[in-house]
Amino acid sequence: MAIKSILKMGDPELLKVSQRVTDFSSDELHILIKDLFDTMAASDGAGLAAPQIGVLKRVVVFGVENNQRYPDSGSVPPTVLINPEIEVLRNSFQEYWEGCLSIPGLRGLVERPDHIIYRGFDVNGEPIKIEATGFHAIVVQHECDHLDGVLYPMKMKDMSQFGFCEELDAAQSR
Ligand code: NI
Repeated sequence: MAIKSILKMGDPELLKVSQRVTDFSSDELHILIKDLFDTMAASDGAGLAAPQIGVLKRVVVFGVENNQRYPDSGSVPPTVLINPEIEVLRNSFQEYWEGCLSIPGLRGLVERPDHIIYRGFDVNGEPIKIEATGFHAIVVQHECDHLDGVLYPMKMKDMSQFGFCEELDAAQSR
């Protein structure tokens, strides 16, 4: 369908709360999902939320297979998740250096629950219920935050752990 331009941090649209999907049979929804996958693939991203392409609907896509930007991530199957809900299963946390297509070139250390169940609906309106840990759990939480207008720097506890990817990589290899 189409590769859309991705809104960047500073655009007030990214801070809005998205609306639930009510009609699963609309062409509009199916075009949106295709556009999200096309745009994510073109940017080599691990996930993308509808508000990032300017559509304030509660729809996210994610998936990682051999992505060089996330070499240690394992693989997460390509997934469409509509009207998601997240339940935290255990009170344990993991830290991960997150990036975001709306915040290009930067990375920050974020702590999130490491064991969740997410529920929602697939492209056909069928219910989804999946348990996730590790990178899979992170990517789902990161994308779902976008639906509530939350970007990962807003979740950071220590802003000294935020920087340009180039500089962070250079520092690490010194
Ligand atoms: Ni993001």
